[in-house]
Amino acid sequence: MPGMAKETLFTRSGDTFDIVSGGYRVTLEPTGIDWDVFDGVVKNGLRLRFATGVDFPFVHATVCHPGTLAASHDTLETAAEALNGRWAEGFRAPDLRHIIAEASGRPVGYFRLAYPLPWPRSLWLTYLAVAPEFRDQGWGSGIMRLLLSVAATLEGVEKFGMHTMADNTGAMRLYQSTGFRIIKREPWVNHDGTSSERLTYCRSLR
Ligand SMILES: CC(C)(COP(=O)(O)OP(=O)(O)OC[C@H]1O[C@@H](n2cnc3c(N)ncnc32)[C@H](O)[C@@H]1OP(=O)(O)O)[C@@H](O)C(=O)NCCC(=O)NCCS
Repeated sequence: MPGMAKETLFTRSGDTFDIVSGGYRVTLEPTGIDWDVFDGVVKNGLRLRFATGVDFPFVHATVCHPGTLAASHDTLETAAEALNGRWAEGFRAPDLRHIIAEASGRPVGYFRLAYPLPWPRSLWLTYLAVAPEFRDQGWGSGIMRLLLSVAATLEGVEKFGMHTMADNTGAMRLYQSTGFRIIKREPWVNHDGTSSERLTYCRSLR
């Protein structure tokens, strides 16, 4: 139609997102999840807190470490680009939080949570990595247990899930030992050009 806007405009005003595309406007309201329950929680020597700009060097080094890239079949370019994109979205987007796990004041891990994707009332782990020097010492399991205990307090949040690749044995053992079950398997072509099977893990929070 003449005069109709062809480009998609995406703007944020406070916690509200406006998407204008093809002449239509969709406003996404805040999801209502109480993200603050994750900020400052302490248990078994671990403390979770929201990431800030000063965490970028730690997060970048962890995400772009060769061992992390190998585990997720990522390339340095695609991993850095994805991280930069997520980081640029900021720390208060209504549907996403960047979280740092600390032990004795030192960051040991980084993860991102999204809500309510990909299903309604579902919390989603969009990224998790323990810093290379802290792996295989129980920190990943500790982070997951703490995360689950906090997530279980969230009203209206029923499920928790994530993806991983079928050859990521560390991640699979971590998820299986914390009560997640595989609900979907699908062929997947990775960023590094290899082929894998992508697994969807899910568990109830109730
Ligand atoms: C996956 C990851 C978060 C696990 O964190 P971690 O602190 O090393 O995990 P833990 O020490 O708590 O170990 C959790 C379980 O996985 C096992 N495990 C950890 N690393 C492993 C590895 N490389 N190979 C096989 N098993 C491994 C542990 O033995 C433990 O199993 P158990 O409970 O049966 O003894 C961490 O290895 C990591 O950051 N990997 C790179 C990024 C990544 O793959 N993220 C997940 C993408 S979906």
